[in-house]
Amino acid sequence: MQGVGSSSLPRSTYERHPGLGRDSSYPEPADPSHGAARRGVACRPGSKGPSVSRNTAPDTLASAVRMHAITPETIDIVDMVLEYARRRILSDDTPLDKPLSPAELRRLAGGSINDAGLGARRALALFENVLAPSCITTEHPRYLSFIPSAPSKASTAFDLIVSATAVYGGSWLEGSGAVFAENEVLAWLAAEFGLPVTAGGVFVQGGTIGNLSALVAARDHATRLRRAAELPRPDRWVIICSSEAHSSVASAAAVMDVDVVTVAAGESGVLRGEAVRAALVEHGDAVIAVVATGGSTNFGIVDDIASIAALKDDHEFWLHIDGAYGLAAALADITRPLFAGIERADSLIVDPHKWLFTPFDSCALLYRDPAIARLAHTQHAEYLDALTESSQFNPSDYSVQLTRRARGLPLWFSLATFGVQSYREAIAVSIDLAHAAAREIRARDYLTLVRDPQLSVVVFERTGWSPQQYSEWSNRLLDEQHSFVVPSSHAGRTNARFAIVNPRTTIDDLVSVLDSMA
Ligand SMILES: Cc1ncc(COP(=O)(O)O)c(C=O)c1O
Repeated sequence: MQGVGSSSLPRSTYERHPGLGRDSSYPEPADPSHGAARRGVACRPGSKGPSVSRNTAPDTLASAVRMHAITPETIDIVDMVLEYARRRILSDDTPLDKPLSPAELRRLAGGSINDAGLGARRALALFENVLAPSCITTEHPRYLSFIPSAPSKASTAFDLIVSATAVYGGSWLEGSGAVFAENEVLAWLAAEFGLPVTAGGVFVQGGTIGNLSALVAARDHATRLRRAAELPRPDRWVIICSSEAHSSVASAAAVMDVDVVTVAAGESGVLRGEAVRAALVEHGDAVIAVVATGGSTNFGIVDDIASIAALKDDHEFWLHIDGAYGLAAALADITRPLFAGIERADSLIVDPHKWLFTPFDSCALLYRDPAIARLAHTQHAEYLDALTESSQFNPSDYSVQLTRRARGLPLWFSLATFGVQSYREAIAVSIDLAHAAAREIRARDYLTLVRDPQLSVVVFERTGWSPQQYSEWSNRLLDEQHSFVVPSSHAGRTNARFAIVNPRTTIDDLVSVLDSMA
């Protein structure tokens, strides 16, 4: 067993990791009053502000409360962490960084968990010098893979407050103020998308859980309708979606043990009503839902939602819109028309952690009629009676979760701070940039645009390159800390892909990547 304060970690490896360029030295507190009190933070009796008891020396505290009591040690920890967070949030030159292998990480950072603890200074130094630099900086302007993140400074900073206030976001009883603020955001989104004022929902972890929760509600609704009509359940329930729908739809279907019928989106990548009609006719009452994609992940292509929604005139089905990545573009004037028909959706999702500028992780899930979702999702247990027997709005009743972080609050704060117009403009910038990148690609004889971009994803091929060459090129860009652009593929052909959500990404950033393929 280790003695107090010692560790099995080789100190030299993590206290200063050469070449990573980060400062690991934290000044020792000058005196025990270092921190909040020195800065004159008020200690109002009964307030939720800081209340600092400075007379209790750590060694007289029962060790059981050492982690929770307000002592010079915990004040110092909070100061160190906030100072680190402040530097990181306001840093303009955080490198892209890159992953280390498990063996390297074991060598540099293994053994950090022991009986005695490392102490915050060493643990934080380990994070700053080894662990953080082995995580790719997802909000870097030249992180162009998958779907990047681009949280506003306000939303990232406020995320700290969501933790600091220990808000419970699952019920009105416990978190009414937070739930109210989240619902303000959901109501604004619902209005933007043309849903009725009675629409509502909840922020969940991400698009995968959002899609799953919506489809579970849709199946529950279909089951109830059948039961009411005294009809038997079909042998297999069916979800209809595009061949280009996100993998999370298939994942939801697997969790639910239902079948997925994929309808070919065709050359353009757009799923149209005509093709969906044929599937609806074939599968009839077994259909739980039709999923239309509001911005496919691979191409940023929006399905023809209007023609799919129009099928509701002749067929009864639940229309779910997976807009995890792309639905944010409905806020921009230039792309709003692409989403015509969304006002007929029964449910939809859009992920603030993708293109609504919040930190991971957050998905706004909206239902046209939240009461239907409530029937599907409310958990019943004796200890929850105080919640479930009330008429209050409890966010946990609308998705596959119980305990929940108020993960809509960073978006609320950022929206309340900057206003909606800033969002419209920041989204439009990436759409313009994608079109500018497409023009640059067309102008280069060694590149071919695979499809014209609609939103902010641009997919292109390098003439003559093998998959191996794409990989080597991509690895080189990351090794040189220039950019993060992983190869993708379409119809069995390897390609390169830009996904742009960061308003700080410039055309020069993209051109330099294109030039590197010459
Ligand atoms: C269209 C679409 N749907 C669903 C998801 C899944 O979202 P998440 O990764 O937040 O679970 C994604 C992720 O990129 C997506 O682009």
